[in-house]
Amino acid sequence: MKNLKRTWWKEGVVYQIYPRSFQDTNGNGIGDLKGVTKRLDYIKSLGVDIVWLCPVYDSPNDDNGYDIRDYRSIMGEFGTMDDFDELLHGMKSRGLKLVMDLVANHTSDEHFWFQESRKSRENPYRDYYHWWPAEKGKPPKRWSYFDEAGDAWKYDEQTNAYYLHYFSVKQPDLKWENPIVRKEIHDVLRFWFDKGVDGFRMDVIPFISKDTDYPELPEQYEGNFVPFYSNGPRLHEFLHEMNTAVLGNYDVMSVGEAPGVTIDQALNFVDEDREELNMFFHFDLMSLDRDGDEVFWMRKDPWKLTEFKKVHSDWDAVFAQKGWGSMYLSNHDFPRAISRWGNDSEAHWHNSATMLQTFLLTMRGTPYIYFGDEIGMTNAGFNTIEDYRDINTVNRFKLLQQEGIALKDFIENEKDAARDNARTPMQWDQTPNAGFTQGAPWIKVNDNYQSGVNVAEQERNPDSVLSYFKKMVGLRKSNLGLIYGKYELLLADSEEIYAYTRTYDEENYLVLLNFSATLVNVKINEVRFTKAKLLLSNDIADTMKTDDAFTLKPYQALVYEILDLE
Ligand code: NOJ
Repeated sequence: MKNLKRTWWKEGVVYQIYPRSFQDTNGNGIGDLKGVTKRLDYIKSLGVDIVWLCPVYDSPNDDNGYDIRDYRSIMGEFGTMDDFDELLHGMKSRGLKLVMDLVANHTSDEHFWFQESRKSRENPYRDYYHWWPAEKGKPPKRWSYFDEAGDAWKYDEQTNAYYLHYFSVKQPDLKWENPIVRKEIHDVLRFWFDKGVDGFRMDVIPFISKDTDYPELPEQYEGNFVPFYSNGPRLHEFLHEMNTAVLGNYDVMSVGEAPGVTIDQALNFVDEDREELNMFFHFDLMSLDRDGDEVFWMRKDPWKLTEFKKVHSDWDAVFAQKGWGSMYLSNHDFPRAISRWGNDSEAHWHNSATMLQTFLLTMRGTPYIYFGDEIGMTNAGFNTIEDYRDINTVNRFKLLQQEGIALKDFIENEKDAARDNARTPMQWDQTPNAGFTQGAPWIKVNDNYQSGVNVAEQERNPDSVLSYFKKMVGLRKSNLGLIYGKYELLLADSEEIYAYTRTYDEENYLVLLNFSATLVNVKINEVRFTKAKLLLSNDIADTMKTDDAFTLKPYQALVYEILDLE
């Protein structure tokens, strides 16, 4: 198997930090780099290997740092370049790797390049961005994620032209078709690699190539623009070029954020022979509970476990021979994993959180754990629009207001769907604001830090969600079979139990996960064995019955090593 070529980024566990919400050290209510440095021993104690830090560059924060004003300096609210160097040093000395966030589909409109570009049609930076001269009439329709009117073209009076912005009006899209732009981005990468950074997560990377004739949007993409955006004509040429010009010259990892990329396109990105990216995040799971193409609206009927399993089994199969996958259940753009895929009620909170951790850490593909999921943080579920900070929620609210859509439904939807659900501050202890800040937090802290969902309490309790997470990370890392082993789905039709084996040379594992709130009895007929050793359970485990029958408590997770596979 080709993908058995061992590398650190396949074997490592990634911990994603949203720095704004991690740890404030200067009392301004916003997390900062010194805060991350302060918590490095904690991060190390988790057993993770790699930290992915969401954008920390200078930014006016229209989209919390995903609108970069200067790729080579640090956001004032987060600290200074010295703070960054100290953080990097602190990580290296603990054997942790640092992955940064590259946001290069667009910049901030306050970036020097755009400031110049908009000055005149003759400006040397004009061709850094996508412009449409207004004398040609209105440009063909393009959708925007965060625009108040949903329009991705913004008219700019100064030069009587429209510029393209797939995200907010303050996030103009860079024109990668211009080779100078590509070289600029390559230089940015080199700048950070030369400092010692170990890789990049690449924001909406499949969107970078555009047809610069800007044809009419083909009908099938009307309201469903993402696959169109992710299929630009020169995408793979740009990725290959970036790999050969920069990535391939360093021992670094690359993981693309890949909305719109379908399973049959997967290997075009990560087949090693193509020299493009190492991994990417697909969106098939993230759209499972959404209303068709309406990515920000929850679907009316609940998602089914068979669908959940199918997504993972299909994607695992793609990378069985080539490439490598990435596993995630949550991040800063989606609700909390436990509230979404588990059950965050008091009765099931512990088992749900740990069952999902077990899943994430027993699948093939590099696991990405979002900060706070290790202690079972839950959705914020804000009740009023005033509590929201995210431009996505705030601007969609404005748009719906104009269209006269019932705002009550919108707020109900956002309780389950909003990105801010996962952006509330890290819950460190029981002191005010969960120990996140001495000041007023930029976004409300979830009250449940007072009732057990905090690091300090969980560190003291050997049976806590946090303690289980550490054990599960340790188990993955000490068993190569859980990393590289072949995955086989069992009980494919069950809507309650997700069961699978992982097999690698002589090592055989059986993973049983109860995704339901009821007690379930299962019989594993597909694999024949009589002896299995329980490696880990998140609840008191009934020992295995000799006839391969198991009883799983609500949201129970069991990891066995099979000792006598026939
Ligand atoms: C994806 C990022 O993860 C998200 O937070 C951001 O808003 C958009 N890309 C635009 O950069």
